[in-house]
Amino acid sequence: MRGTTLITGADGYLGRRLTAALLADGDDDLILAVRAKDNAELTAKQDRLARQLGQDAVGRTRVTAADLSLDDALLDIDTRAITRIVHAAAVTRFNVERDIAQRVNVDGTVRLRAFAARCDNLQRLAMLSTLYAAGRRRGDIHEERFDDAGFVNHYEWSKWAAEDHVLDAVGDLPVSVLRLPTLIADDDSGQVTQYNAFHNTLKLFYYGLLSLLPGDGTTPLSLATATFTTSAVTRLLDPAIAGGIYHICPDPADTATLDQLIDIAFTVFERDAGFRRRGLIRPLPCDQESFEDLLDAADLLRGGPIHQSLSSVSPFAHQLYLPKTFRNDALRAAWPGYAAPDPIALAETTCIRLIESKWGRRTQETP
Ligand SMILES: NC(=O)c1ccc[n+]([C@@H]2O[C@H](COP(=O)([O-])OP(=O)(O)OC[C@H]3O[C@@H](n4cnc5c(N)ncnc54)[C@H](OP(=O)(O)O)[C@@H]3O)[C@@H](O)[C@H]2O)c1
Repeated sequence: MRGTTLITGADGYLGRRLTAALLADGDDDLILAVRAKDNAELTAKQDRLARQLGQDAVGRTRVTAADLSLDDALLDIDTRAITRIVHAAAVTRFNVERDIAQRVNVDGTVRLRAFAARCDNLQRLAMLSTLYAAGRRRGDIHEERFDDAGFVNHYEWSKWAAEDHVLDAVGDLPVSVLRLPTLIADDDSGQVTQYNAFHNTLKLFYYGLLSLLPGDGTTPLSLATATFTTSAVTRLLDPAIAGGIYHICPDPADTATLDQLIDIAFTVFERDAGFRRRGLIRPLPCDQESFEDLLDAADLLRGGPIHQSLSSVSPFAHQLYLPKTFRNDALRAAWPGYAAPDPIALAETTCIRLIESKWGRRTQETP
């Protein structure tokens, strides 16, 4: 029987792609929940989604306003119709303030869980989380519930706390927690439309605004594309596949280390005449204590390029001193023959596209 899937954060980077994938591959009706402060913003978001999704969306989608930080979010949705929920909404900045992370990422998830509990025909409640809900843990990280190991930023903490609320409902609700890696490109071509800490840090290196490399070079960094992640999420939404906790990431053996990624980035940079003209050397590794000293000193500067560049790196840099390996055995069992992108090839094509587009400036300038 044809079902109805509710997607929160449906106009976000992944929400949009998941919506398009569910329209192309399934026959569910889709309710697209977006944050909108008034009718004008809702209409603008509806129009943008209609343009992005095209003909496939006509007759199968309904866009609704739902600010998950508010108690009355989701009240106008008919709970009887809902068969699946994909929770993609969140404030995703690594430097998100604690109170905003609490209101949106944690309390918003609690509201969604309460809504899910009223959906009598629900077959799946899938929350998109992050591998870094693991926080300050090191070593092998399995697809299991985490306890509080401390966190390097409020974003990580809030995704862990949200997971914890969702996992409390196991037994009552068909819950899945899908922990995602860092997405560095839309697809294997290396094209980037969503810029994050990975791209911003490389930009600092490319322009010579950061000459130290925080982190332990042996730290594995789990990277992937939006295409790979969208395929994995849509597969795991199939009610025939067991709920539970999944790490949507490349195999441990196919995960590049910080040192390998810096090497490939600088190999690409050094092929670029503009970069060579600046005569920059590769960044010097920096141990954790020296990095802390540097952050303290930069705090005293209160402004200027050094302060700015360090404050863009500091919300996640501590993770680079906490090597961990994400196991993905449950994912592999649920998705035999899956193929994650090769990390070195992906990092290389992504760096090439970053230089070509000047980190998105050229694409934006083109009409
Ligand atoms: N992309 C990644 O690399 C990555 C990695 C690991 C985990 N994840 C997880 O995957 C999910 C989707 O990420 P994404 O990259 O698509 O993020 P995104 O592009 O930042 O999208 C987040 C969405 O959440 C919405 N949102 C924010 N505050 C809201 C509120 N108060 N009420 C309702 N909706 C709200 C945003 O709407 P506005 O834009 O209007 O605020 C946006 O539509 C998130 O849960 C994120 O934690 C992503």
